[in-house]
Amino acid sequence: MNVLKDFPFHQIPAPLLQWYGVHKRSLPWRENPSPYKVWVSEIMLQQTRVEAVKEYYARFLLELPTVEDLAACEEERLLKLWEGLGYYSRVRNMQKAAKILVSEYGGEFPKDVRELQSLPGIGRYTSGAIASIAFGLPVAAVDGNVFRVASRLEENPTFISDPKYRNYLEEKLSAIYPESGTACSEFTQSLFELGALVCKPLRPECERCPLKDLCRAYEHGTQTLFPKTAPKKEKRIEELYVFLIETDEGFCIRRREQGVLKGMNEFPSHIIVDGESAEQVLHEWGVYGFTEIKREYYTHTFTHIHWKMACVWVRADGAPFDAYSLAEIEENISLPTAFRQCIKTLQKR
Ligand code: ADE
Repeated sequence: MNVLKDFPFHQIPAPLLQWYGVHKRSLPWRENPSPYKVWVSEIMLQQTRVEAVKEYYARFLLELPTVEDLAACEEERLLKLWEGLGYYSRVRNMQKAAKILVSEYGGEFPKDVRELQSLPGIGRYTSGAIASIAFGLPVAAVDGNVFRVASRLEENPTFISDPKYRNYLEEKLSAIYPESGTACSEFTQSLFELGALVCKPLRPECERCPLKDLCRAYEHGTQTLFPKTAPKKEKRIEELYVFLIETDEGFCIRRREQGVLKGMNEFPSHIIVDGESAEQVLHEWGVYGFTEIKREYYTHTFTHIHWKMACVWVRADGAPFDAYSLAEIEENISLPTAFRQCIKTLQKR
């Protein structure tokens, strides 16, 4: 950690809470924030934009309004509710945690941050969000927004990936939280909100920032140099076939047994290692009587991998996979975005 000239953290809450009172967005998870609502929304917000989350959140809460409902939800239905959000292990972990909450906590969330963190998928950020927003406890929740706001305020040159920085910031922020209650809830959310609406990554709107008089990056014009992030690792590139195998029963779908998206449904795919042809792969799988109808190319980027996909649509007499109608696939089968986009190839029959 770099040693910085002491920053007056204690001067943050008053102007920020005042600003939040006027400018906060009305968001569905902000009304009577129960721990369950905060949990669901925060896990979703780790993955995508607020606007996109609104729809997922509404659907999820309508169908699974309580921890008990989540614990009891059938896996395929759960994955369908999450379809398109990505990071499916997160919703699987949520269900594991929900089962523990039901069996060991009577369906109630523990208020203790350490106990919250003992649940699958609940780390420091999520436990901080639940504790402060839902329980009104003075516990910080440091996400990307908060790192951005705080690193600019004090021009902190530490990489945000450095665990020491998270420790430092949690400690500094927890020390300036209001004592308890709604103000704690609002303080956490005001930091998110400032990061989302004003202290934006590329074009911060400093003239309307309630903290501009405190902000060292603003003073020096260095806003966009913060936060400091470690250079990104190159993504591994994988080339694969994705087969749309159409038989009289419909289109083949199977479970992925390894690699990224393990455990998820897919159109049967194969990573091309030795330049095999599509025909060779299909033969090897035991697909028979097939003719290629069309081939199109797609890409999909994961956190560490970039996929280049040759999507091959074939008509076949038989294949050793389960098959479903297109309508069934669209309505009831959960299919990660990487594969779902391949359906476009079929729409231009
Ligand atoms: N980003 C992360 N958590 C958020 C929240 N609760 N409201 C708005 N933006 C957020």
